[in-house]
Amino acid sequence: MTDKIPNIAVVGSLNADLTAYVETLPQPGQTIMSHDFVVYPGGKGANQAVAAAKLGAKVTMFGCLGSDSYSGMLRESLENVGVLTSNLVTIEDSPTGAAIILVEDSSENEIVVIPGANARFSPDVLEKVHIEKIEQADALLLQLEIPLESVAKAAQIAHKAGVPVILNPAPVCELPIEFLQHVDILVPNQTELKKLQENGLPLEKLFTLGIKMILETRGASGVWVHTQDASRHVEAVKVNAIDTVGAGDTFVAAFAVAYCSGTDLLDAVRFANQAAAFTTTRKGAQSSFPNSEELAEIGVNLP
Ligand code: RIB
Repeated sequence: MTDKIPNIAVVGSLNADLTAYVETLPQPGQTIMSHDFVVYPGGKGANQAVAAAKLGAKVTMFGCLGSDSYSGMLRESLENVGVLTSNLVTIEDSPTGAAIILVEDSSENEIVVIPGANARFSPDVLEKVHIEKIEQADALLLQLEIPLESVAKAAQIAHKAGVPVILNPAPVCELPIEFLQHVDILVPNQTELKKLQENGLPLEKLFTLGIKMILETRGASGVWVHTQDASRHVEAVKVNAIDTVGAGDTFVAAFAVAYCSGTDLLDAVRFANQAAAFTTTRKGAQSSFPNSEELAEIGVNLP
């Protein structure tokens, strides 16, 4: 590992997570009662930005907020951990993105995203912001909760500047080849990878497009690290999970921080597993992410 502070850009979504805690997730047609309800700051983009900043990275977030009260909560959550927010755009006639989340006592969840202002992140938005923050980054983190043309444009800007692009293809959709050619590291979960394969993108094809590694996350079953020459398994960390929301986002961010700090690939995945596992022991998305000190207290440091 080097002493260098990683500089990470995130282009993506911000959501208010309207989270109800329930004993068991409802069946279709069933009405159930929740035993707790909290509005947390969330959204895959903002989550990854906050998680990376809490682990010591210098982070710039690009995204769109509405003009309602949730926008203040989301901005504040980023700023509290030092994320640069001057490239967030306010869409005056739109609500901020939101997510309806049910978390059952077993820690499993169901999420429905209401895009709101995230849907207004058109490629034009990238014309109005400081894209040099993308060009100067050590890595660009992308997900799929804003329009695909804008995700693709951000990837193109980073690729042209030689900045590694890390794509978390969630929620998964059909991905154009020209876009994937600008991606370096893919971090899908098992279901997302299966969907990409059903859409005609087996691992070999993804590697021929220029993707260098695929980190396939499988929750409690660990992570498969696929490179062109090998597939290796990294065990998950066993914890008493109470809420898994945002664990995938912590994994992506922690991996990016470790990898950009010069950590070896498998050690970076082990570090990301530790951070993701920690996240599941607390409630909410951004509110549950560990900082470096909290990880150090349980003996986890950047390798
Ligand atoms: O990955 C978890 C996130 O997915 C939540 O914070 C929610 O907002 C959705 O974007």
